[in-house]
Amino acid sequence: MITGFGPPDVLTVHNVPVPRPQADEVLVHVRAAAINPKDTFIRKGRFKRFTGEKFPIQTGFDFAGEVAEIGPGVTDSPVGEAVYGMLDGWQGGTCAEYVSVSTGRLCKKPEGVSFDEAAALPLVSLTALQALRDRAGIATGMQVCINGASGGVGSMAVQIAKIMGARVTAISSPPNHDYLADLGADRCIDYRHGNIAAPGQRFDIFFDVFGNRPFRSVKPILSDRGVWVSTVIRPHVFLSVILTRLFSRRKAKVVLVKSLRDDLEQVRRWVETGVLRPVVHSVYPLENIREAHVQQETKHTRGKIVIHMG
Ligand SMILES: NC(=O)c1ccc[n+]([C@@H]2O[C@H](COP(=O)([O-])OP(=O)(O)OC[C@H]3O[C@@H](n4cnc5c(N)ncnc54)[C@H](OP(=O)(O)O)[C@@H]3O)[C@@H](O)[C@H]2O)c1
Repeated sequence: MITGFGPPDVLTVHNVPVPRPQADEVLVHVRAAAINPKDTFIRKGRFKRFTGEKFPIQTGFDFAGEVAEIGPGVTDSPVGEAVYGMLDGWQGGTCAEYVSVSTGRLCKKPEGVSFDEAAALPLVSLTALQALRDRAGIATGMQVCINGASGGVGSMAVQIAKIMGARVTAISSPPNHDYLADLGADRCIDYRHGNIAAPGQRFDIFFDVFGNRPFRSVKPILSDRGVWVSTVIRPHVFLSVILTRLFSRRKAKVVLVKSLRDDLEQVRRWVETGVLRPVVHSVYPLENIREAHVQQETKHTRGKIVIHMG
């Protein structure tokens, strides 16, 4: 938990009471959690208007583990079942041995992957799925460009865009190009390169995962009804969303990920059939969570950072 806003030193490990599951909740014995930029932003106080400033604040949104106890209204998640999922909103708590979670925010863990791998999936795969499917309306044969393709969200977005039948251009640093081709990217671009689109190429979807390519810079390489989707919560993004809703055929959209059981089920099926694979960059014990945050803040992590609970 964090005892104040600040650098990774504000993260400390404490003994706290085991939470009690409410009517529609299950108590999950957490085997693994994952770190996201959201955790580091919360730690630094960037989202204090949403988290509040009452300390300590628990951390972590992704989890994989086993159901240890069920609330009185729960019928679909038996004790002992292996599950994975994600907390919604701004109150974390999965970087802990136990977390109480509504059954709408979890489902059965994919078979054939470890708890560490399962914990690496929820927030990033749901963000990619909801951005490409719900915000951008991805369809077979579309040209899709993903900026920040080798990170947590990007690694899922490349794979999900390929599952949906798109042609994928991935933007990352050159050392990640072989990795991205292995995930299915059709073309890889160095982000220091001037031209993202090949001559004559237009994108039906530009997914700005990294958040440094504003709508106005991408508009010239969007197709006639192309969609730009951003992950970042910044004023220029919301302004572009409003202006393009009124005045442009090319649209700007923003994704704000929601934890949805149906989407977790979809991701589980893809993982079990082998078309989507979790990507774990590194695994830390809970005691080393500060190091995990330091790695997350490098902004050069390939895939996910996982916290393994002993
Ligand atoms: N709105 C939402 O619901 C939502 C949900 C999830 C995430 N997000 C946001 O989305 C962003 C990305 O999240 P993430 O989990 O994917 O982060 P991440 O895993 O930390 O992303 C790291 C990746 O960024 C790449 N990168 C670094 N500099 C770059 C540049 N100049 N241009 C393009 N790519 C660059 C790195 O590639 P190289 O190593 O090759 O440089 C690295 O693979 C964060 O701001 C996060 O807060 C928002």
